[in-house]
Amino acid sequence: MTSASAEGFNGNYPGKGIGTPVGIAVLGKGTVGTEVLRLLGEFSDNLEQRISSPIEVRGVAVSDVEKHKDAPEVQGLYLTGDARELVTRDDVDIVVELIGGIDYPRELVLEALGAGKSVVTANKALVAAHGSELADAANAAGVDLYYEAAVAAAIPVVGMLRRSLAGDQVQRISGIVNGTTNFILDAMASTGASYEEALAEATRLGYAEADPTADVEGHDAASKAAILASMGFHTRVTFDDVYCEGITHVTSDDIEAAKQSDQTIKLLAICERLIDAEGNTTGINARVHPTLVPNEHPLASVDKSYNAIFVEAEAAGRLMFYGNGAGGAPTASAVLGDLVGAARNKVHGGRAPAENPYADYPVVPFGEVTTRYHINMTVNDRVGVLANLTKRFAAAGISLSAVRQEVSGDEAHLIVVTHAAREQDLHAIVDQLTGHDDVLSVNSVIRLDA
Ligand code: NDP
Ligand code: HSE
Repeated sequence: MTSASAEGFNGNYPGKGIGTPVGIAVLGKGTVGTEVLRLLGEFSDNLEQRISSPIEVRGVAVSDVEKHKDAPEVQGLYLTGDARELVTRDDVDIVVELIGGIDYPRELVLEALGAGKSVVTANKALVAAHGSELADAANAAGVDLYYEAAVAAAIPVVGMLRRSLAGDQVQRISGIVNGTTNFILDAMASTGASYEEALAEATRLGYAEADPTADVEGHDAASKAAILASMGFHTRVTFDDVYCEGITHVTSDDIEAAKQSDQTIKLLAICERLIDAEGNTTGINARVHPTLVPNEHPLASVDKSYNAIFVEAEAAGRLMFYGNGAGGAPTASAVLGDLVGAARNKVHGGRAPAENPYADYPVVPFGEVTTRYHINMTVNDRVGVLANLTKRFAAAGISLSAVRQEVSGDEAHLIVVTHAAREQDLHAIVDQLTGHDDVLSVNSVIRLDA
């Protein structure tokens, strides 16, 4: 009988043998790559014990060799500006992609997989856009594709969905998965920092993407939501399937208003299974948007660049994961964890569990999903205005859970909080309010977690 490896059945995937060095290529030496190389040096003895073979760095690829050649982490290592040349080298077993972007790393990763190398990547944009193509290439070549660091950096949420909850039915995954935006919203709320100041600090600390638009427009969180939904619901969900709204329209006034109602604004990623009255799954939805969270909710106290993810599963119940969601060392921790997994399989044989999109649920458009709105508007303070406006909601079949009014001169600030209703109906009512004679301005519309 063939013996099983730590991660898979090794009959079809024989190993190199205990003690044989595992060659790796590291592509990128920025915030994450630098920490990966530093920790590879610092932990090398322990890693060798855990893998039963040493890891040997065959080369490091950067775009500007001159800039990096004197850095301590690359002394004695082969440094090149030609990543393509590294990924197919015979003595490379595992490629660690830490460049970022989509098109070029996609080519490199496909070349590496095609040449029989396992790949470890922290690149959520790549996985969310081309995950199925990469997974198919890894399967065809019988190698591993790992991307724990792609979601919430040090928090082991991909492995948790891939392995620990593999026997359960995940119902919902929600949480804070972008460190930069959490840092910005927290700084605006707690220190009164401006949006620009907070973003500059998050960039200086290495949390933000090379182009921070990906963070503040919600694209980074949407990539992570696509990965989480794919893993959790065994369905291929891509970046384009995820509804995405960032934090660029959240103002200091919104944050102040949230405080006054004992709430906090967080950028949440929400992935949910939609279930009909008979308990059948009708589809899934994944979305990212600013969300009002009550202060007593654990997510409200997640500050700085920390991330936190709630998972609700049928048998396990509610689970919460909290930790460092961005930054060089926390991300390197996840990369090294994946590297140990991939290296063990190279040495002992076997493969890691791959994604399995057998369920293939339809992705339901956001408009069909149920949400709740918190609408803040300025209206004329005249007899009948409040009654007229609330009638509009009733006519659209939307029930209200709270209405608050504060008069100032001829105007009134009106806050309307709805019960759960279809997103597209809520959206339509906001359009109506915006054009209404008695509504001077709709100041903000922020969803509550339904
Ligand atoms: P950086 O921008 O800090 O580093 C990118 C590195 O890639 C640089 O060393 C750059 O070289 C190199 N590079 C760029 N183009 C090429 C090329 N054509 N060939 C070879 N090397 C190239 O990025 P990060 O380290 O922050 O992020 C890397 C990946 O990790 C991204 O996918 C990101 O989304 C992901 N990630 C980042 C986290 C973070 O907190 N920073 C957390 C989780 C994931 P040079 O220095 O010479 O310009
Ligand atoms: N830019 C990302 C963030 C890095 O701020 O969360 C971690 O994926």
